[in-house]
Amino acid sequence: MPQLYSFLFLLLPWLMGCCGQAPSERCSNCEVFDKTVTSVPATLKPGIKELFFVSSPVNTIPKGAFFTNPQLEKIEFLKTTTNSIEAGAFEGLEKLTKIEISSAQLDSIPLGVFQDLTNLKTLVLKINNIQSLQRGIFDGLVNLKDLQLHINNITSIEEGTFDQLQNLEVLHLANNKLTSVSSSLLSELKKLKTIRFYDNELTSLPAGIFDNHQDLTEVALQNNKISDIQSQLIPHNEKLVKLFLDNNLLTELPPQMFHGFPVLKILTLHNNQLTHLPPNLFGDMPRLNELSFKSNNLTSLPLGGLGGLSKLRKLDLSDNKFEDLVKEYFDGLEKVTDLNLQKNLIKSISPDIFDKLKSVTTLKLSKNQLKWLPDDAFNSLPKLSKLYLDGNPWHCDCNLIPFYYWLDSQSSILKSQVKCATPESLKEKEIISLEEDDFIWPTTLPATTVLYTTTPVLTTAKTTTLPTTTVTVLPRAFVLVCFPPLTRAFVFPALSLLLSAL
Ligand SMILES: *[C@@H]1O[C@H](CO)[C@@H](O)[C@H](O)[C@H]1NC(C)=O
Ligand SMILES: *[C@@H]1O[C@H](CO)[C@@H](O)[C@H](O)[C@H]1NC(C)=O
Repeated sequence: MPQLYSFLFLLLPWLMGCCGQAPSERCSNCEVFDKTVTSVPATLKPGIKELFFVSSPVNTIPKGAFFTNPQLEKIEFLKTTTNSIEAGAFEGLEKLTKIEISSAQLDSIPLGVFQDLTNLKTLVLKINNIQSLQRGIFDGLVNLKDLQLHINNITSIEEGTFDQLQNLEVLHLANNKLTSVSSSLLSELKKLKTIRFYDNELTSLPAGIFDNHQDLTEVALQNNKISDIQSQLIPHNEKLVKLFLDNNLLTELPPQMFHGFPVLKILTLHNNQLTHLPPNLFGDMPRLNELSFKSNNLTSLPLGGLGGLSKLRKLDLSDNKFEDLVKEYFDGLEKVTDLNLQKNLIKSISPDIFDKLKSVTTLKLSKNQLKWLPDDAFNSLPKLSKLYLDGNPWHCDCNLIPFYYWLDSQSSILKSQVKCATPESLKEKEIISLEEDDFIWPTTLPATTVLYTTTPVLTTAKTTTLPTTTVTVLPRAFVLVCFPPLTRAFVFPALSLLLSAL
C-alpha cells in the first residue's frame, strides 16, 4: 500500500496539470495565463485544447475572442476581473465542451453569448454577481448536462429560460436571492437528476414543479423560507436518493408525504417548526439510515409512525418539546443504535418506554427535566454503552439512592457528569461522588414513586406472617422507601434478615 500511495503522489502533479482542477504550465495541450495578462491574446499556443485564465485582469471577453482556435474544448476564467461577455464571444467553437467563468464579476449575461455551442456539456458561472436570467441566453445548448449558477445574486428567472436544455441533468441555483419560482420553470428539463435551490428565499414551491421529472436523484431545498409543501410535490420518487428540506419554516407535513421512496438515503427535516407529524407520514423507506427532527417543535410522534423505517440507525429528536415518551413511538425501530432526545422537556421515563429499541448503544437525555429516575429505567436496553444525562435538574434526596447505586455500577457507560440541581446544599455535586448518607431527608417523593410509608412497612416487617403479594413487592419497596439515616440503620438490616429468611 505505501508504494501505491507514493506512486499516486508522484502522479498527482501530472494528473492535476492535465485534467482540469489546477492548471499548470506543464500541461502539453493547454495554455495558462496568469495575472500579467489583461486581455484575451490574439494568438495561442498552436493546437491547444484547454485554455485557462487565472487571476487575470481581463475585464471583457470580446466577440470572436477565440475564433482562430476552433479546436478548443475547454475555456476557464478563474478569479478574473471579468465583468462583461459580448454576444458571440465563443463563436466558432463547436468542439467546446466546458466553459467556466467563476469567482469573477459578471452581473449579467447578454443574449447570444453561448450561441452555436451545441457540444457544450458543462457551463459553470458560479460566484459572480448575476442578478437575473433572461429567456434565450441558454438557447441552443442542447447537449448541456451541468449548469452551475450558484452563489450569485439572482432574483428573477424569466419564464422559458431553461426550455431548450433537454439534456440537462444538474441545475445548481443555490445561494441566490430567489423568492419564488414558476411551476413551469423546469418543465422541459425531462432528464433532470439534480436540482439545487438551497440558500435562497423561497417561501413555497408551486404545485407541479417536479411533475415531468422521472429521473430525479437529488432535490435540495434547504435553507429557504418554505412554510408549506404539497403531498405530491415530487410525484416520481423511484430514483430519489437525497431530499433536503431542513432549515425552512415548515409547521406541518402532509399525510403520506414520504410514501414510495424506495432508494431514499438522505432526508433532512431539522430546523423547521414542525409541531406534530401526521399518522401516516412514512411508508417503507428501506434505505434510510438516519433521520433527524432536531430543532423543531414536536411534542409527540404518531404511534407506530416510524415503523416503515426498518433500516434506521440514528434517530435525532433533540431540541424539541417532548414532555412524555410513549413506547409506541419507537415501534419497528429495532435497528436504531443512536437515539438523541437531548434538549427536550422530558420529566420521567418508565422502563418499558425503550422496550422496542433493542439495538440502542447511545442514548442522549441531556438537558431535559429529569429530577428522578428508577434504578431500572434503562433495563430494556441491553446494548447501552453510552449514556448522557447531564443538564437535568436532579433532585438529590434519598429517593434517588437506588438510581445512585445503579449509576455507580454503570459508571463505564456514563459519558457525562450527572450533577444534583437541588437541594441547594448539594447543588452542582456530582451524584456518583456522593455518599449514601449525603442524600437529604425528609423529602417529598416523586409522583411516580411507589409509596410505602415507614410505619406500615415496619409493622409488616416485624410480623413474620407476610401475605405473598407483599413479599414479592418487598424488595422494590425496600429500595424506594425513604428512610432517615438513623432509621435506616435499623430497618435495612431487619428487612435483609427477613428477606434472606424467606
Ligand atoms: C444583489 O443585488 C441587489 C439588487 O438586486 C443589490 O442591492 C446587492 O448589492 C447585490 N448584492 C451583491 C452581493 O452584489
Ligand atoms: C416553535 O417554537 C419556537 C420557539 O419556542 C416559537 O418561537 C415558534 O413560534 C414555534 N412555532 C410553532 C409553529 O409553534
